[in-house]
Amino acid sequence: MALDILAIQQLLEKEIKALKISKQPSELYDPIAYILALGGKRLRPALTLIAYQLFKNDYEKAIPAALAVEIFHNFSLVHDDIMDEAPLRRGQETVHKKWNQNIAILSGDVMLVQAYQQLLKLPQDGTLTILDKFSICATEVCEGQQFDMDFENIETVEEDEYINMIRLKTAVLLGYSLQSGALVAGSSSEDADLLRQFGTAIGIGFQLKDDLLDVFGDAAKVGKQVGGDIISNKKTYLLIQALNLASSAQKAILNEWIAKKEFDPKEKVAAVTAIYNELNIAQLTETKMNEQFNLGFEFLKAVNCDEDKKQELIDFSYNLIHREK
Ligand code: IPE
Ligand code: IPE
Ligand code: MG
Ligand code: MG
Ligand code: MG
Repeated sequence: MALDILAIQQLLEKEIKALKISKQPSELYDPIAYILALGGKRLRPALTLIAYQLFKNDYEKAIPAALAVEIFHNFSLVHDDIMDEAPLRRGQETVHKKWNQNIAILSGDVMLVQAYQQLLKLPQDGTLTILDKFSICATEVCEGQQFDMDFENIETVEEDEYINMIRLKTAVLLGYSLQSGALVAGSSSEDADLLRQFGTAIGIGFQLKDDLLDVFGDAAKVGKQVGGDIISNKKTYLLIQALNLASSAQKAILNEWIAKKEFDPKEKVAAVTAIYNELNIAQLTETKMNEQFNLGFEFLKAVNCDEDKKQELIDFSYNLIHREK
């Protein structure tokens, strides 16, 4: 019997709990157990299992592929939080704050290795292809992260450069999550690739929503420091559009805040958010986000599988659009 999304989430929690993390030295392994136990939406492994079930029902076979993407994702968060100097993750202290930066680096490194070790548990057939796709994806995530940091110090970033950056840092992992699930199920490479393209398109939409929540989200729900992107001059879609649309007076205010080295974070977030509001930036971002989701649905249409099963992915996508965290 195929699992519905609720059953998938429960299964994933059980499987993540069952991972044997606690070993010595504890400073290396405790942070891994900590970040994985903090929860999170488990979107990527859910996508892997949903994609598997588009083609086959014996989902147990895809569990290592699902765990691999979730462990990799958590690794990327631990290192991302160092790079973004983020104090909070999922409502709790980030690993580098709770322990220290060196510990966060090394625990993250082990998680990347553990993701590969999960993939080595997959049935031999096709595993090399999956390892290859995973390696390409993991490299792209690093490329995206570097662009993201480079852009903090560049005055103007074009919209297409931003979209490419978020495609790399975020979207390709959603694409890979689906693709690997399909490949483990033995789908055609065409269908697996269409699912990858669907995942990449909705992944871009997903990051646009993440950027929105960073400014307009409810801190208690989001579990991250609200305004973090504004504080660190992230060239998000919001800021790029605001700079494009600003009057010369608004532009001067934005640039002044961007240039300031010493400031009260709260004041900066309030000032920039006020300009976003004046320019209706949230609405504009939502339009762009919806565009990306609709683009994704076109790829999904072309996948050769049961139409009822596709509906699950469409429902899943709408939940991403409307999420509050
Ligand atoms: C956060 O991802 C990082 C981004 C790519 C935006 P999620 O929003 O999926 O984080 P968790 O796993 O649910 O905490
Ligand atoms: C995260 O982007 C992308 C990766 C972790 C690879 P963000 O920096 O926007 O993610 P959050 O907002 O910290 O979760
Ligand atoms: Mg980041
Ligand atoms: Mg971050
Ligand atoms: Mg973010």
